[in-house]
Amino acid sequence: MTTSSNSSNPSQAQTSGMWGGRFSEATDAFVAEFTASVQFDQRFYKQDIAGSIAHATMLAKVGVLTEQERDDIINGLNTIQAEIEAGQFEWRIDLEDVHMNIESRLTQRIGITGKKLHTGRSRNDQVATDIRLYVRDEIDAILELLKKLQKGILSIAAQNTHTIMPGFTHLQTAQPVTFGHHLLAWFEMLVRDSERLIDCRKRTNRMPLGSAALAGTTYPIDRAFTAELLGFEAVSENSLDAVSDRDFGIEFNAAASLIMMHLSRMSEELILWTSAQFKFVNIPDRFCTGSSIMPQKKNPDVPELVRGKTGRVYGDLMSLLTLMKGQPLAYNKDNQEDKEPLFDAIDTVRGSLMAFADMIPALVPNIDIMREAALRGFSTATDLADYLVKNGVAFRDAHEIVGKAVALGVQESKDLSELTLEQLQQFSDLIQADVFEKALTLEASVNARNHIGGTAPAQVEAAIERAHARLEKLYAQ
Ligand code: ARG
Repeated sequence: MTTSSNSSNPSQAQTSGMWGGRFSEATDAFVAEFTASVQFDQRFYKQDIAGSIAHATMLAKVGVLTEQERDDIINGLNTIQAEIEAGQFEWRIDLEDVHMNIESRLTQRIGITGKKLHTGRSRNDQVATDIRLYVRDEIDAILELLKKLQKGILSIAAQNTHTIMPGFTHLQTAQPVTFGHHLLAWFEMLVRDSERLIDCRKRTNRMPLGSAALAGTTYPIDRAFTAELLGFEAVSENSLDAVSDRDFGIEFNAAASLIMMHLSRMSEELILWTSAQFKFVNIPDRFCTGSSIMPQKKNPDVPELVRGKTGRVYGDLMSLLTLMKGQPLAYNKDNQEDKEPLFDAIDTVRGSLMAFADMIPALVPNIDIMREAALRGFSTATDLADYLVKNGVAFRDAHEIVGKAVALGVQESKDLSELTLEQLQQFSDLIQADVFEKALTLEASVNARNHIGGTAPAQVEAAIERAHARLEKLYAQ
């Protein structure tokens, strides 16, 4: 990275070659650096080059450029892309941003023809186009990661359709559930995340190019043709809106925030479950670290870090919302600040999903400990109440009867299934010997919740099958 101008020695030669015509002194060196974006927007050089190639191709089609000029521009841009990818490109801060760095290098390579590339275009519609292309590509990459994680969840759920654990409300033991069912709850959250991204992609995939600075351009451009070359679904309808709209970025960061919120909730459960107090699950060592002082420690770093990183993605969303709230139409320099919060959210979501996609299918449930925990905490109390209702007791009365039975269990330190029939019958003579197998065992409890969305192993198996089909359909869109 180099800076050019020295503010104490202004000269015409040191103003930007791209826009310096009306300036009489060079940009202050600090201001040049302060206003530049090349430090971070070089990240979408590929999209910038693709946009320029499509633009030049269109300009030749409508007769603004000759075919020779078009080919020189395209060859020049391809060479520049190779230079960038080989690490041989010199990014210059005095050239402000990725757009002017590449254009300037193009002119250096191919001469005056390079100066024709920007005909009928402004950096305002150029940058809006580039970020949309970039976000679109990132959405596709994130959807791949989500799919991998979703499939990983289905694979571990399939191994645990009969694994019983306590389900919680208020973090107190509530009713037994199957571990597979719990995992499928995670799956549902992440499916909604994919749906949101697929939806956000549609509004991202509209082309601002052709809006020029704000009002459109005087050249006979063919926007539909450029859009087709770049894989855009449609062109933007209003030039003022198109150069200033960053809704797609906000939508993306909102979708990213929800992904992180879900990963954070999963993290919180994993952190609880791996603690010595729960011991429901082991996370393989490769996802954990130790303590430099306490030799016994194995810390669930990945879930903890993902939980922590959720906050920064929320911050990225707030940055973009706040960035936009005071802006009059059309483009304002403020918009340059859209990039880092977007990039940060993208990097954070990608990293978090990558870690989770590897870690989740590698989790090892402690099946016996989960079962033992489900047996504690009177998790089948509702089943006993339902049993009484089926034998003619009104639900509120049944609730009261079972409450008393639970009180006895607490007093005797026994689960309901460990009380004797005689003990249970002192609360209701409708309780018969079949109560153990029909209501009080964990299997009876989960098997009884046998409808779509319920925790019965048979339902979880069916749900997994449907889930695979749903994924096929979701990602075929
Ligand atoms: N680097 C600028 C940005 O990121 C590109 C657009 C600049 N346009 C302008 N009129 N100064 O937004």
